[in-house]
Amino acid sequence: MASRSLPDSPGSRELAALEAELRYHEAAYRAGTPEIGDAAFDDLYDRYVALADELGVTPAERFDAKPGVDHADGFDTAAHRVPMLSLEKLSPSRKDDAGVSVPIADQLDAWIARRKKDLGLLPLEPLSIFVEPKIDGISVSLVYERGRLVRAVTRGDGERGDVITAQVRAARAVPDELVGVSSGKLEVRGELYLPREAFERWNAAQIARGEKPLVNPRNGCAGLVKRKDVTGLETVGIASFLYQVAWAEGIALPRTQSGVLDFLASAGGATYRELTLVATEASLVAEFCASFEERRASLPFDIDGMVLKIDDLALHDALSGTGHHPHWGVAYKFPPERKSTRVRDIVVQVGKSGKLTPVAELEPVFVSGTTVGRATLHNFTELARKDVRVGDLVLVEKAGEIIPQVVGVDLDARPADSVAFVPPDRCPACGGPVVAEEIFVYCGNPSCSAQLRERLVHFASRAAMDIDGLGESIVDAIVSELAVRSPDAIYRLTAESLASLPRLGDKSARNLIAAIETSKKRGLAKVLVALAIRNLGESMSDALASEFGSMDELLSFAERYVAGDEDARRTVVGEKQKRGRIEGLGEKSADVIFGALASAEVRAVLDGLAAAGVVLTAEKRLVVAAPGVAGKTFVLTGTLPTLGRSEATAKIKSAGGKVSGSVSKKTSYVVVGADAGTKLAEAEALGVPRIDEAELLALLGAT
Ligand code: IVH
Repeated sequence: MASRSLPDSPGSRELAALEAELRYHEAAYRAGTPEIGDAAFDDLYDRYVALADELGVTPAERFDAKPGVDHADGFDTAAHRVPMLSLEKLSPSRKDDAGVSVPIADQLDAWIARRKKDLGLLPLEPLSIFVEPKIDGISVSLVYERGRLVRAVTRGDGERGDVITAQVRAARAVPDELVGVSSGKLEVRGELYLPREAFERWNAAQIARGEKPLVNPRNGCAGLVKRKDVTGLETVGIASFLYQVAWAEGIALPRTQSGVLDFLASAGGATYRELTLVATEASLVAEFCASFEERRASLPFDIDGMVLKIDDLALHDALSGTGHHPHWGVAYKFPPERKSTRVRDIVVQVGKSGKLTPVAELEPVFVSGTTVGRATLHNFTELARKDVRVGDLVLVEKAGEIIPQVVGVDLDARPADSVAFVPPDRCPACGGPVVAEEIFVYCGNPSCSAQLRERLVHFASRAAMDIDGLGESIVDAIVSELAVRSPDAIYRLTAESLASLPRLGDKSARNLIAAIETSKKRGLAKVLVALAIRNLGESMSDALASEFGSMDELLSFAERYVAGDEDARRTVVGEKQKRGRIEGLGEKSADVIFGALASAEVRAVLDGLAAAGVVLTAEKRLVVAAPGVAGKTFVLTGTLPTLGRSEATAKIKSAGGKVSGSVSKKTSYVVVGADAGTKLAEAEALGVPRIDEAELLALLGAT
């Protein structure tokens, strides 16, 4: 990997840090728990590539960001005959060695020059470049036999994807039959997407049904084509853009990209030939891409850039590539779309744990596929730094293409009478006093009505007790009409009282009671999440639940901790530089979590939950020491063939071993999987023995 061959320098350290971050996010994505959006991942990867270029890191030594895995449970998978790779990117945010921005037109010139050199062409010899829009959807592979669609598969991990033939057919998103093709076999590739109009229509219907709208067209499309029940999919309006033939047997195909698109269009596919260009002049290509950026908002679908392809397909075969991208094409990325709009008001929201968050209410504006009417200002420190004021003209963009952000203020357009925003010294919902903690401000009143509402909504949410049908509007109604004042009171509701609420009939009331009943069995970890205690998220709740096994044990520990019991504090903080026993728990978080658990308010809720029969236990992690594992420290790197990271960690811990995130002289073994990272290099440098998954399983006593 990169850091192996590089001398130590600030640059090589930054590269190693970027690589570690990329690996972390890739692993989180693979585990189905992504923490950042695709755009943010791409930005990180772009920074990594730019720095790797700068430091002269060879392709073989680079971290290769693999396309994200999109496998969903219950779907059959199929191997791609030709891997579905990604594209190298030209990015508007690229900087040179001196930190100066490199204009994207210069990057484009350099890319064309490199390809000419690879092909043995002189700098002034022409090379035809085909340019088409880069639609922001999900890629799909379509196999046709004798002109009939026989299989549709998602990209998956690039090697294997999920079979979505029934969904694609039901959605009528691609031709079921290729016009004029009656023999042979071929694989067409393209993009499935949700046009803006279909997205808005679907969301309006969802809201009318009282269900959650889609966050954006791309994620929406990905979710819709993974529906098991395909009824009604044809009315959604999923569309496609076909752009490639990956391979063909028994069919003569044109030998240029433009010819292939003409072929696909004549066969009945959507190809948007009117939005493409073939040019031999780099300046024309750059001009076309730049002009598209202006047209972007007026297109009926989202695009995140353009794709440049060498038009002559014979040259594709002559050019190599990396495991990540081919050299015959490149993506020209647009900067995230930014729009300017006025701030109508700045309001302060009260969160479930009392955090006060300033939010800008905006004149509605269409950004990256959705209408934005509000944007978070994060906290009062950030708000003061940006000095956003009511009446200001601000620039808005979507972070990770989902959450709207105010990027900056146009000071020239500021009204003369504007005033700086003054953070509240009282909670806007209950008038209670506020408490400042680091950069955040909290409402200190635990019975604040706004906090209560948010806590109840959170309690019933998917990640917590998952009470189907208990959304925001029912929460408002049970608070105002049925005097629900704490989460445990949910379990004392009756079908009769619920049926008395406006807009809730007998049947819905009975369904809701059934959902509330079902939620009693979610177990300790979910109850802990549901309590909405600061710093007690899903993974910490899991860790505490499996460490203590029951709420009683956890509460008695919390009491000892709060009372300053030495043993309890050592359990958390550890001793003499040694980390504590509970994975990921530091002293600051522990003070907040155990302080809250030992409080009278939380106690009262827990008593109410226990009385209602809510399960407050979890499977305790049973440690059965395995001789080769107990007392040893393991470091995991790369993707193991069968065990997920958390599964491997749980197995090692259950056998009395430890898992550490970094390699040191004290590491007993580094467990190496595919695409192992810098940790392997570090382990080799320190002489730490390496083992693979099979050897780990043997140590664990499994086969
Ligand atoms: S050509 C080696 N053409 O962008 C992959 N891709 O970042 C060649 N995409 O996986 C793909 N519009 O999902 C190509 N006109 C277009 C595209 C396009 C969107 C997507 C596709 C691909 C990703 C690459």
